[in-house]
Amino acid sequence: MMLLSGTANQPLSARIAAELDVPLCCVTIERFADGEIFVRIDENVRGRDVFIIQSTSAPAENIMELLLLIDAAQRASAARVTAVVPYFGYGRQDRKDQPRVAIGAKLLANLIVEAGADRVVSVDLHQHQLQAFFDIPVDHLYALPVFVEHYGKLSLEPLAVVASDVGAAKMARGYARRLGGEIAMIDKRRPAPNVAEVVSVVGDVEGKNCLIPDDMIDTGGTMVGAVEALKENGARDIYVCATHALLSGPAVERLSALPVKEVAVSDTVHVPEEKHWPGLRILSVAELLARAIHYIHDNESVSSLFE
Ligand code: R5P
Repeated sequence: MMLLSGTANQPLSARIAAELDVPLCCVTIERFADGEIFVRIDENVRGRDVFIIQSTSAPAENIMELLLLIDAAQRASAARVTAVVPYFGYGRQDRKDQPRVAIGAKLLANLIVEAGADRVVSVDLHQHQLQAFFDIPVDHLYALPVFVEHYGKLSLEPLAVVASDVGAAKMARGYARRLGGEIAMIDKRRPAPNVAEVVSVVGDVEGKNCLIPDDMIDTGGTMVGAVEALKENGARDIYVCATHALLSGPAVERLSALPVKEVAVSDTVHVPEEKHWPGLRILSVAELLARAIHYIHDNESVSSLFE
């Protein structure tokens, strides 16, 4: 097994390597003077089972790094190349819902396959159906066990798990089943990208502790709307959690001012120090990814991770 890392989230790659007790392979990633990316794998990968860890979060150069690393590994005669993409950026662009728009998720899936990946591992894809965009095997992991372990240690009864929109309902049900709470839902409208408007709260949240799980926090607008609506409906303590901490634009300012107990995110996307605030808790998915990599390498069942 060889583990390679792009530069999108090197701390997570280092944690995965430590969990597996496998050193990260030496890779040179440099820029030409004009910004063009150059990659070189500095160790022999011939006949090896190669895992390339790189989230496709912004900037788009992260995608190019991933593609170049896959290409380099294939051309160096790796036996198998697995793209480990903890956060699959562009996943939101999964359909043609307006005239003349691209389906970015499908395009990126095509690029990863065309570059030479033999399989993909990712965490909390924006929609489960994104797996079908790849004509190679996809191991879709959930960060849920990591968050459930954390919340299981707190006394949250009486608990309502609140889906921040219809799309998050399935995720909310998964949390409610494991943590033992009821389900509520925010009826949300999106008049424009990154603009979220709450229409109403469906379900009973009065006097209850509320947990709002989501796959991502981008500008924080969805969570602000959800928290305000829950407070207006008499919620007690509110906990916010999301797998992918994109935290762009006004997100930190908005989230740090929210009347919530904490905002928990995973480390699928690197959150730099300057975006930390006291109410932010970062839980690592390194062990989860390490176990998935280990099982794939040993041809064991990855779904056993969720049993
Ligand atoms: C929506 O479908 C997603 O699950 C997130 O709720 C959304 O993308 C978060 O974006 P923002 O933080 O900008 O509201």
